[in-house]
Amino acid sequence: MNAQLARAMGKNTASVDGAMEKLLAPSPDLPETVRKAMRYSLFAGGKRLRPTLVLEAAECCGLNASKALKTAAALEMIHTYSLIHDDLPAMDDDDLRRGKPTNHTVFGEAMAILAGDGLLTKAFEAAAENAADLKLKGREAAELIRLIARGAGAEGMVGGQVADLAAEGLSKRLSKSAAAKILKTVHRRKTGALIVASLDAGAVLAGASQAKRQALRSYGDCVGLAFQIADDVLDVVGDKKKMGKRGSDRDNDKLTYAALYGVDGARAKARSLVEKAHAHLQPFGSRASVLHELADYIIERDK
Ligand code: IPE
Ligand code: IPE
Ligand code: MG
Ligand code: MG
Ligand code: MG
Repeated sequence: MNAQLARAMGKNTASVDGAMEKLLAPSPDLPETVRKAMRYSLFAGGKRLRPTLVLEAAECCGLNASKALKTAAALEMIHTYSLIHDDLPAMDDDDLRRGKPTNHTVFGEAMAILAGDGLLTKAFEAAAENAADLKLKGREAAELIRLIARGAGAEGMVGGQVADLAAEGLSKRLSKSAAAKILKTVHRRKTGALIVASLDAGAVLAGASQAKRQALRSYGDCVGLAFQIADDVLDVVGDKKKMGKRGSDRDNDKLTYAALYGVDGARAKARSLVEKAHAHLQPFGSRASVLHELADYIIERDK
């Protein structure tokens, strides 16, 4: 990661963490048991990629990042909920996440499910508050909530997770081209959809034009798929200590880019997606410098 990106990520992380602290402050209405479980995973580390995308998209479209913090927090809370549920025994059955024992191994499965539910719903409260704080018009506020719900839901991330589970073991039973087609949609949905929604949410907060929204979504579609390809590659070759997770794709017989194309083949596909991603940022000129750097980082990262 170069110095400019490290600076931007560091700044964004500090401000988003501050916003999440406030959103999850102690309250008589919030049971301490579930608050503890929610905070455990939320503040366990994590690269804060999705909130950074919200803030950088907002900046690209002319809104100061400080005005988009609650929505950035919302996208990180949805992402963290997806990780808590992804690690459950009924799903990937992992015991290490962000360098710590997974949520269900510490708090039990019931509390992990509920902590995820709590984070998901808190996210929508936070995004709605952001819309109100900015005095967005009713239609714009509704669009913000709609696009986040769509990205997170059964047509987006949840649907991708469903397809990911259904695809376990498939590579052995299908032709390579049939498996490749399924794999691409699994990854675009389970990981790409929330990345696209993060960028689009930043753009909508900024009142961006349809053309700018579309350009950012196209960028997100490319980096989202590239991000999950890199995750598949790291699952095979990554340093588990740096990643803070063990890598369970082989044990679960997952359909992944590394399994289908090999590590080098997968890396080449990710590189070509990132080249396309850069091209979509053209309308934003130098305002998009951090998004350009993020695209490169996404495939070069070691965690
Ligand atoms: C991991 O996401 C799960 C995927 C969607 C690939 P990240 O690699 O962004 O995980 P954190 O947030 O840094 O822990
Ligand atoms: C997870 O994909 C995507 C989510 C929506 C959480 P993975 O199952 O590959 O993510 P990791 O490797 O456990 O972080
Ligand atoms: Mg999974
Ligand atoms: Mg997993
Ligand atoms: Mg993975």
